[in-house]
Parts: sequence; structure tokens; C-alpha cells
Amino acid sequence: MPELTLAVLTLDGRRVTVAPGTTVLAALQNAGLSPLRSSLSGEPRGALCGMGSCYECRAVVDGLLMRTCLTPARDGQNVRRLLEVAREF
Ligand code: FES
Repeated sequence: MPELTLAVLTLDGRRVTVAPGTTVLAALQNAGLSPLRSSLSGEPRGALCGMGSCYECRAVVDGLLMRTCLTPARDGQNVRRLLEVAREF
């Protein structure tokens, strides 16, 4: 039986624990932190393609701009949504 090793990562400053095989996008959405916002209302919205084609789900993962739907969640990762990064400027 494969070992179940949970990953603890930081999403916009919140520490969350996820199961192996979880993508960063799923971790964000499970935490109620959508990487996407409606351009009209500013409300959170779901990912568009979920398979790496639209680039709408990008976030800064350990200092690199990544497509979160293709990025596996790993222990110790630091993820920041672009909305949060933009607030610093
Ligand atoms: S949801 Fe389209 S690239 Fe991630």
C-alpha cells in the first residue's frame, strides 16, 4: 500500500494541509482562494480549462509564475495569488 504523506503549504499566508496528488489550483480552491476573479464583478470564479491551456490560473509558486492547474502541491511550498502580489504595489 502506498504511503500517505500529506503536504503542508502556504497559500497567501495561510498554512493548509493537502493530500498527495493535489494540484495547487485544487488546494487554493479548497481553501476558498480562487486564483481568478471576474473582470466585471471582482467575484471569485473557477478555472477555465483546468488543463494548462488558458494560463488563467497562474500564481507565484516559490517565486516562479506557474499554472496552478498543472503544478502539484508539495510540502513547504509558498503560493501567492497574483491578486495578493499586486496589492503590494
Ligand atoms: S486553468 Fe487553464 S491553464 Fe490552468
